[in-house]
Amino acid sequence: MTKNHEERKILKAGFLGCPGLQADIQEKLSGLYDGLVSGKEAFTGWATLPGRDNSGELSRILSAASKIRKDSEALVIIGIGGSYLGARAALEMLNTWKPDPDGPEIFYAGQNISGTYHADLRQQLRGKDVSLCVVSKSGTTTEPNIAFAVLKDMLIEKYGKAKAAERIYAITDPTAGSLRAEADAEGYESFVIPPDIGGRYSVLTPVGLLPMAAAGADVESVLAGAVRAAEPDLRAVAGSVAATRKALIDSGKTVEVFEQYEPSLFYFTEWMKQLFGESEGKDGKGLFPAAVSFSTDLHSLGQFLQEGNQIFFETLLDVKELPRDLTAPQSADPLLAGKSMNEVNRAALEGVIAAHRAADIPLIRIEIPDLSPYSFGQMVYFFQLVCALTGKLMGVDPFNQPGVEQYKKEMKRLLRV
Ligand code: PA5
Repeated sequence: MTKNHEERKILKAGFLGCPGLQADIQEKLSGLYDGLVSGKEAFTGWATLPGRDNSGELSRILSAASKIRKDSEALVIIGIGGSYLGARAALEMLNTWKPDPDGPEIFYAGQNISGTYHADLRQQLRGKDVSLCVVSKSGTTTEPNIAFAVLKDMLIEKYGKAKAAERIYAITDPTAGSLRAEADAEGYESFVIPPDIGGRYSVLTPVGLLPMAAAGADVESVLAGAVRAAEPDLRAVAGSVAATRKALIDSGKTVEVFEQYEPSLFYFTEWMKQLFGESEGKDGKGLFPAAVSFSTDLHSLGQFLQEGNQIFFETLLDVKELPRDLTAPQSADPLLAGKSMNEVNRAALEGVIAAHRAADIPLIRIEIPDLSPYSFGQMVYFFQLVCALTGKLMGVDPFNQPGVEQYKKEMKRLLRV
């Protein structure tokens, strides 16, 4: 595929049953965007990231990825929240686009504190050559801390301390936190999460790029997609989505339901839940972000959506071109026999839209060209921008998360007893 052909494939948005927007809204949004890229607002580094010259860092990422691909049968990505979901969203989508039979098997750790999960993981890793990619911006989070300690011990037991250190890749703050101190002291290959980029906005930093590269994804295309999404036409689309979300909030909606019909987007909507929930849910404001997988959840939540309490609107991720398909054999129901499964899936999608239109459920439809790295880069920048702009329109700080600290304090108090 030529670069130009790829560049024609861009995200689009459509709106059904949504409130109209104020005439001067694009002007207001463009003022807010100027603020985001001015370099004067805290934690807005993600907004200018796609245009930054990061070639030096990128080549270090690519060479670390190539070492992992050569010497590891398994790569464990250790992290939680913003230090986990973006990488997993990327890997699930991009490995469906282009499966990677030659790369390491990918495992995740530290995204929960289950002793059972981690005991089973250790068991699964036995006998394999393993590398660890430990990600923590603060370098002090409980979940990755405990998982890293467990897996590092396993590596040391197998390879000895010095050789184990050569299999550990740390992604963290440039100066602060215990992970940075350990990485420097032990000589782990390490990468930086820029201090002006918060966890949930960090997918396009080494946090997402190293796992993507290690899993064989084309990270340059991901970054090119993000650059494309930062151009004025797509910024205006993101602005319209943000303004529509705000208008839906003003009309009384309190829940946004993210929907997809492709299982490989499950973790993308998990990432969206964190991005929007943590950015907007504060000061008694915000939409509760829910995510459903269709058609699976039509058989569990379809009834509620169609006829239940209409507190929500829907945001649909509609993928236009899919990498593979199957034809239903003649033994299937006569209505299905000979049809492509993707066509049947599309009939479900269009059928749900028609049924929900009849129930007057507002819908934001985001058309995604395909599951490629270029689309992924666009999606990440696009939704980050939608989220930041909606937060600004709502009058909240979309870049802090003071409420997340509360449970951590309580948990640490209990651990001290
Ligand atoms: O978005 C966020 O800030 C959080 O979800 C963090 O990413 C999460 O708590 C993990 O933090 P850290 O990367 O410091 O380990």
